[in-house]
Amino acid sequence: MGERAPSESSPSGAGPARAAPAAPGAPAFPLEPSAAEMERLGRLALDRVVAHLAALPDMPSRGDVDCEDLCRALAGSDAPERGASLESLLDPLFDEWIPRSFTTPGPGYLAYIPGGGIWSAALADFIACATNRYTGVWQAAPALIQLEANVLRWFAEWMGMPATTRGLLTTGGSQANATAIVCAREKLLGERLRDGVLYTSGQAHLCVRKSARLVGVLPDRVRLVPVDARRRMRVDALAEAVAADRAAGLRPFLVASSAGTTNTGAVDPLDDVADLCAREGLWHHVDGAYGAFFHMVPELRPLLAGLSRADSIALDPHKGLFLPYGTGALLVRDGRALHAAHAETAEYLPTPPDGEAFYDPSQYGPELSRDFRGLRLWLPLHLHGVEAFRDALREKRALAVDAARRLAELPGIVLDDDPQLSLFPFHVTWPGATLEAENAATTALVEGVTRRGRVMITGCTVDGRFLARICVLCFRTHEDRVDACVEDVAAEAAAAVARA
Ligand SMILES: Cc1ncc(COP(=O)(O)O)c(C=O)c1O
Repeated sequence: MGERAPSESSPSGAGPARAAPAAPGAPAFPLEPSAAEMERLGRLALDRVVAHLAALPDMPSRGDVDCEDLCRALAGSDAPERGASLESLLDPLFDEWIPRSFTTPGPGYLAYIPGGGIWSAALADFIACATNRYTGVWQAAPALIQLEANVLRWFAEWMGMPATTRGLLTTGGSQANATAIVCAREKLLGERLRDGVLYTSGQAHLCVRKSARLVGVLPDRVRLVPVDARRRMRVDALAEAVAADRAAGLRPFLVASSAGTTNTGAVDPLDDVADLCAREGLWHHVDGAYGAFFHMVPELRPLLAGLSRADSIALDPHKGLFLPYGTGALLVRDGRALHAAHAETAEYLPTPPDGEAFYDPSQYGPELSRDFRGLRLWLPLHLHGVEAFRDALREKRALAVDAARRLAELPGIVLDDDPQLSLFPFHVTWPGATLEAENAATTALVEGVTRRGRVMITGCTVDGRFLARICVLCFRTHEDRVDACVEDVAAEAAAAVARA
């Protein structure tokens, strides 16, 4: 039923719940509804969302995404010339399309790197969109932009960075990583891009390689440094690579380390990399998209030792601060480098304020017009208080450590690493198993566990071994769901070994 354009009829076959437009040719709703109509529409959307969130714990952790036919049918929809009732639009959205997705905000989402979706951020987005103030340049909304600047300053404090730090709210970690490379490139390479060499580990997120390409680092100037047994960058190999490039007349300029890799959660030796970068005059960027927010929790800081020394850090509040997708951040220790890479003016725009006194987003990032994404950070932090976020991060780390301990005790399961933060890899084994057979059994386990519906887990292949992985980061994941996960892994591991 969802294959029909929603404006044609509701998916249940009933006609639109609202009466047809008053005048022929008029839209169902004027672009500016009356106050009463706004409330009615708002209530409709609110009721659907609240019911949806209440149902999340019982939804399958991976919705039925096997829906190519549905997508083909949707792809044929024409743009609606006339409006339709909101009810007739919300019905297929909530009943048919949203359920056909991974249940990313649900408590059972232990796959990839879980995102967030806290309610207070949704309220902030609603307010930001409805009030729609312009936060591209300082003069247009100085107080609102100051709220954003405050959030960036708090981020810098939580990461242990100095007052010289300036930052930028981005759409995600990818954009933050790309912007960091631009800053380093501008500061250390200037116009001589051709010889600049960037170093990262073979386990770094794909966006580091993609960003390098996008911002003009030549493909043969990206070095993937080998990793150790816990899949952390090998600093001895890094030092050798830098020396070899210098000897070849190239210009090493940036090391991008990971504070939590996506594959296995590995944290590179940030302190040692910082030492090497200091010695060699290199920019040390840390991709903390998954893990850096654990640095907010004092007792977990040793897990990220050296993070505070970075020249720049990419953060993803839509992971570690439980915000909705579309919220990343970059911090740059020498804020002038971020400014130098982006400052630009135009005849028709007001003169940007003195950067020491006030923050103008357009002078620190690539965007001009932009959404007021600062509110989705500022409002939740004020509403809940920072300690609520620290507590949630503590809980995620404790749950991951507990899950790893319990899985390690299961017959047929080998832990490939302890959680360096809140993510760990494991695989299935039995006496006499070959790597190929273990890979097949681990792949079957991941699928079997996910098909049971209570948790969704995913895997990755590293050096020819398929690793199942569990990442605990969703704010809705608590002990009961980890218990369910352990039960389901135990059952699937037993079945895999019995089949072997
Ligand atoms: C370690 C790491 N870096 C970067 C990214 C990219 O971030 P985003 O998806 O927000 O662009 C991810 C995404 O999962 C990640 O895990």
